[in-house]
Amino acid sequence: MTNSSTSDSALGVAMLRRPRRLLGNMVLAWVRPMLRADVRPLPSLLEAGFFAKLDGGDDEELRSRLEAVFTSLGADGGAEVTGLHRVRARLEQITYKYGLLGNSWPHAAGGLAFRIASRLAAGRGITFDILVLRSGEAIAPHAHEGTVSGMLVVEGEVGFRTYDVTGASGEDALLKPGLAGKYGPGGLSTSSTAYHNLHWIHGFAPVNYIFRFTVTNLGEARAESAARSAARHYCVPGEVLPGGFVRGRWSTEREAKATPFPLAGLAIIDSAA
Ligand SMILES: [Fe+2]
Repeated sequence: MTNSSTSDSALGVAMLRRPRRLLGNMVLAWVRPMLRADVRPLPSLLEAGFFAKLDGGDDEELRSRLEAVFTSLGADGGAEVTGLHRVRARLEQITYKYGLLGNSWPHAAGGLAFRIASRLAAGRGITFDILVLRSGEAIAPHAHEGTVSGMLVVEGEVGFRTYDVTGASGEDALLKPGLAGKYGPGGLSTSSTAYHNLHWIHGFAPVNYIFRFTVTNLGEARAESAARSAARHYCVPGEVLPGGFVRGRWSTEREAKATPFPLAGLAIIDSAA
């Protein structure tokens, strides 16, 4: 293919994308007031995600909203809004994650406006999914730029280790420990740039289902596709420093994934109690 035909086809794709984006924006302007007015927890949470992502809303406000919604849902609410009983057989065949959007939502989660909005949201870096971790599987320690995320244990027993990244110099990071526990159903962890940004997750039960909401690329510092590929910064927590801080080391994905989740000193958290 010549350079000119390559640029012609790229131009053609861009010309097709633009009207689709504009149409999507028009539909969003129509459904967002309905999300705001919906009394169910997820439509208004999704609207809060749009507000932070598209209207410059505060990311810390979104995180605390997310924490409140996940706390109020608990494990039973999480199972209900994800339709866990309905998708369980499918999840058993899945490695890692099952996306929730459009028609994959049960009615308990939201109505037509929510289904449409969640599909449009996925293209804008705002996603809901169910993470599936088998016993011994982990999500290696990593931090994000411009991301708010929350995880709710719906079933199983999950290890969360989280840290605030309070400083960085060269290969080192200064970390302030946050969560360090084994969490049963109802346990949750939320993160933002300023709060528990570094997180490390480990599955303890034979199978663990985690409901997750994520808003990436807040401030839209990057194109959406570039933001997804640059999503994680791996950092391995190391020795404890005076004052209770921990030294972290920025590392490759391979090094982080090869580091075992430390089992010592984990609190047992019964969130259902
Ligand atoms: Fe993450």
